Amino acid sequence: MSLSHTVTLKNGVEMPRVGLGVYKMDDGEEVTKAIQSAVDAGYRHIDTASFYENEEGVGEGIKKCGRSREELFVTTKVWNDEQGYEQTLEAFDRSMNKLGLEYLDLYLIHWPVPGKFKETWRALEKLYHDGRVKAIGVCNFMEHHLDDLMEDAEVSPMVNQVEFHPALYQKELADYCYKKDIQLEAWAPLARGRYFDAAILKQLAENYNKTPAQIILRWHLQHDVVVIPKSSNPERQKENLDLFDFDLKSDEITRINELHNGDRIGKHPDEFDYNV
Ligand SMILES: NC(=O)c1ccc[n+]([C@@H]2O[C@H](COP(=O)([O-])OP(=O)(O)OC[C@H]3O[C@@H](n4cnc5c(N)ncnc54)[C@H](OP(=O)(O)O)[C@@H]3O)[C@@H](O)[C@H]2O)c1
Repeated sequence: MSLSHTVTLKNGVEMPRVGLGVYKMDDGEEVTKAIQSAVDAGYRHIDTASFYENEEGVGEGIKKCGRSREELFVTTKVWNDEQGYEQTLEAFDRSMNKLGLEYLDLYLIHWPVPGKFKETWRALEKLYHDGRVKAIGVCNFMEHHLDDLMEDAEVSPMVNQVEFHPALYQKELADYCYKKDIQLEAWAPLARGRYFDAAILKQLAENYNKTPAQIILRWHLQHDVVVIPKSSNPERQKENLDLFDFDLKSDEITRINELHNGDRIGKHPDEFDYNV
């Protein structure tokens, strides 16, 4: 069976447009069960990171889920204190051992650590050329980080995963990535539920017989953004995948865009404390 509802990355790799985020899930039964229920519901894309300390549980979940490796799209990330050329190659091996996988679908730099991310990128390029990972990318890169990275890069990033939701509609960054053929991916697409009460979302939810969460995720898809909502709850996992039977109209998308106020869940990448 092939992956459904995918985007095609610039190197031809198919990436499912909806994935399961697993940040804050415990590295045991919680994450294993969440992967099983998600796969049963139709998810084929899982997003973890070495920082989440649950790669073993993710690997266990993948092994037990009843799907072949080729049917799944698995992402992990190199954390800030693992960056640098040799350190990243070692971090990759650690992650792969924990996940128990032969290859990875997508390896990402978690944050643009100043003075380090270019060396880290060289390691990702090596892993890519060696065939250990199907696609490589970054997270939390602003336009200036991408410009800087691409000055020396041999392979340009295929994905940029950033905080992106109606309150943080990063239009310029999205336009930039679109122009450079870098697939934008949203973390915290639901802003952890902070805006479910916004009048426009409630109104559209009622009109379409959907939930505010589904309206938000559909808004991302119509902006060509991949989403990785986190849920440990099987019913909410199903809800977050049930996005392909309606279309928001362009004026409705505009009204959701207008919820933008610049509020962030996480730090601005230029203000992140890279020393801890
Ligand atoms: N690259 C980065 O720097 C970075 C940073 C943060 C996150 N991420 C990735 O992005 C993923 C998603 O972001 P996130 O986990 O921060 O936030 P999120 O997906 O916006 O929100 C998750 C929260 O919303 C709840 N939820 C999920 N679906 C819901 C629904 N349909 N209705 C009501 N509540 C719902 C979840 O609770 P339940 O589990 O109880 O449903 C959870 O508390 C992460 O898991 C991680 O994989 C990446």
